[in-house]
Amino acid sequence: MKNQISITKITESKAKTIDFNNIPLGTTFTDHMFICDYNNGLWENPRIEPLALIPTHPAAMALHYGQAIFEGMKATVDAEGNPMLFRANKNAARLNASADRMGMPNFPEDLFLEGLKKLVDLERNWIPPIDGSALYLRPFMYADEPFIGMRAATHFKFIIMASPAGPFFSKRIKLWAEKQYIRAANGGTGEAKAAGNYAAAIRPTELAKAKGYDQVLWLDAVEHKYIQEVGTMNIFFKIDGEFITPKRDGSILDGITRMSVMDVLKDKGYKVIERAITIDEIKEASKKGILEEAFGTGTAVGIAYIQEIGVDNDTIYVSDSSPVGLEVNNTLNNIKTGKVEDKFGWMIKVKNHII
Ligand SMILES: Cc1ncc(COP(=O)(O)O)c(C=O)c1O
Repeated sequence: MKNQISITKITESKAKTIDFNNIPLGTTFTDHMFICDYNNGLWENPRIEPLALIPTHPAAMALHYGQAIFEGMKATVDAEGNPMLFRANKNAARLNASADRMGMPNFPEDLFLEGLKKLVDLERNWIPPIDGSALYLRPFMYADEPFIGMRAATHFKFIIMASPAGPFFSKRIKLWAEKQYIRAANGGTGEAKAAGNYAAAIRPTELAKAKGYDQVLWLDAVEHKYIQEVGTMNIFFKIDGEFITPKRDGSILDGITRMSVMDVLKDKGYKVIERAITIDEIKEASKKGILEEAFGTGTAVGIAYIQEIGVDNDTIYVSDSSPVGLEVNNTLNNIKTGKVEDKFGWMIKVKNHII
């Protein structure tokens, strides 16, 4: 298939009507979407069109069997107002890793990036011109074939939509270490960004919130002892001067913020170790007074500091005396807005694509 993306523009953008100082979370969408269909083994008809409802057959397989995956990343602007994407090539690769696990077709990575750049270029007036704000991009793929029966679908849609997001300042969060429900088991879909993973997390998260916590700290499926990740973030601890984060074992998401935070920490001279981490050793470190930092990492918030972790009838308290995570967050934000040199080569410039 040729990467010829056709573009149908709306007549008047709604961007002018948006108060970028007051953007409601997740309910404002830009004027257009990128869309592409998969039929009989081929991706075809890549196009950008006005955002609209998508007619869906009630037997569409994603609605019944959950063949649905997604991605999330942000576009920001540099000092001159030029849009840029943060490591979007990693999202393109991760989407295909999720597709492999879920029995879905790969989406060509060059077309993913081209569609993304063209959409961001067209929607550049939707990137909030406010520090810390960004245009959130949501690529996703789902089975739209009408079929009742269990097999891989043969018709899919790949769509990218965009939603402006205000600055996200996370307060220090409280976690509940969950021992009844699990997010992912060995051999399951934990490493995929599959819609079903999120569906299964909703109820335990509601229960944790009802107990006064902000997010669930997920533990391993067998012993409920090894830490996996938190809500929609990966997790880091600083113990006695050293950073540790759970090793990837197929059950946690390969977070793009996680990999970037590791690189920035190492660049700042810190030791970062990926290994299995138990909830008991975190409790022990807290008791000894050497649990210096704990934070979650993800596209939505960057870094979210953890204040305490509820586990059984106990509470693990985290010191707030060592804000290395904040320093890392600032470095990442400065790279994303072109304020410091992008020495890692992470930013992808969105040049003028639309004539
Ligand atoms: C389950 C889960 N873990 C971790 C992350 C963090 O990943 P990233 O840094 O790529 O946003 C996310 C967000 O995408 C997530 O949904």
